[in-house]
Amino acid sequence: MSSGSPSFRTQVVPDDVERVRHLVTDTRFFHDHEVEIAVELVEETLLKGVSAGYHFLLADDGPRLVAYACFGPIPCTTSSFDLYWIAVAPTAQRFGWGRRLMSAMEQRVRELNGTQVFIDTSGRDQYSPTRSFYERCGYKLVARLHDFYAPNDDKLIYARSLVELEPVAGSLGRV
Ligand SMILES: CC(C)(COP(=O)(O)OP(=O)(O)OC[C@H]1O[C@@H](n2cnc3c(N)ncnc32)[C@H](O)[C@@H]1OP(=O)(O)O)[C@@H](O)C(=O)NCCC(=O)NCCS
Repeated sequence: MSSGSPSFRTQVVPDDVERVRHLVTDTRFFHDHEVEIAVELVEETLLKGVSAGYHFLLADDGPRLVAYACFGPIPCTTSSFDLYWIAVAPTAQRFGWGRRLMSAMEQRVRELNGTQVFIDTSGRDQYSPTRSFYERCGYKLVARLHDFYAPNDDKLIYARSLVELEPVAGSLGRV
């Protein structure tokens, strides 16, 4: 598998419904109902286009999807975005796909006049590698909601400002 600089596909196609289902299932990180949500975001985007509120970055290896991210503007905010999903196929993990997806996602968010990105994740031990990944990518833990998902399963919110190097007041509030 090449770890060179990829250009990600941004348009979802009907085959992505099953490809996203397989990729997300293969990571063995997500409950069935979470897999269904990942699939629904693809289906909704196929139906409504970008007005559904979701943006995608997808990396193919032949017919197989090896990595993807889904993100979008947070309703009722001027320029905050959520990263809803990021997943890399188990056999392709630790080759830099995740970091490249994050970087491409942030570039796209800037193009859409976004100023910060939020990420929700779980405080469970299973997600310790995921949290390390977010921290390595420059995200800071900004909130912990105790027992949010279930007893002993906290919700952690990570965030990264995309304007820290741009102290220009006019860069805010343009969405
Ligand atoms: C989290 C995930 C997207 C990371 O993708 P990846 O392609 O393996 O990550 P990369 O190879 O780009 O690694 C980027 C950085 O994160 C670190 N990292 C990645 N996986 C890690 C792990 N398991 N433990 C510790 N650090 C890790 C790498 O060391 C690297 O840091 P460095 O460049 O400073 O050395 C991938 O492991 C995954 O799909 N996990 C399962 C699904 C998931 O948790 N999704 C997020 C919740 S929605």
